[in-house]
Amino acid sequence: MKAAILYTSLTGNTRRAGELIAANLQQEGWGITTVSPLNELEMAGIQEADMVIVGTWVHGLFVVGQAPWNVGAIAHLPAMRGKLAATYCTFALNPGKSLDKLDTAVSHLGAEVIGGLALHRSKLHEHSEEFAARLVANTPARA
Ligand SMILES: Cc1cc2nc3c(=O)[nH]c(=O)nc-3n(C[C@H](O)[C@H](O)[C@H](O)COP(=O)(O)O)c2cc1C
Repeated sequence: MKAAILYTSLTGNTRRAGELIAANLQQEGWGITTVSPLNELEMAGIQEADMVIVGTWVHGLFVVGQAPWNVGAIAHLPAMRGKLAATYCTFALNPGKSLDKLDTAVSHLGAEVIGGLALHRSKLHEHSEEFAARLVANTPARA
């Protein structure tokens, strides 16, 4: 399985999570075609990937109004029909429904979203490992 990881990050947590997820998936034998910020996309890496993993951070008033940051940018990603997708967001206190909103945005690109996880910013290692393990366990084999 080949995965592309696309993220948006202000202070580095979501980028770090993307790198950790990539390392964990590689340990499981997956290929990583790109780990890149949403505003500097590597199109070849996206095209080559069977799965696109999209990560962002939670923005809001901590207990209300939470949303995935810059979800609008996801609408400008290339169409992903025929690809699998997974999502993650990093947060500090409470992600609210950010992951659902992110899933909706990614599924509008035509990808089949198979799951996602909210990663606490103080447990990036642990939660990235869990995310990668769940992805590997839940990804259908492709012909
Ligand atoms: C302006 C701002 C608003 C935030 N709002 C929330 C929030 O509503 N809920 C929450 O759990 N975390 C919130 N956070 C915390 C970030 O989601 C968290 O630190 C995240 O890991 C940042 O990711 P980054 O380092 O990739 O930018 C907020 C952070 C900022 C800067």
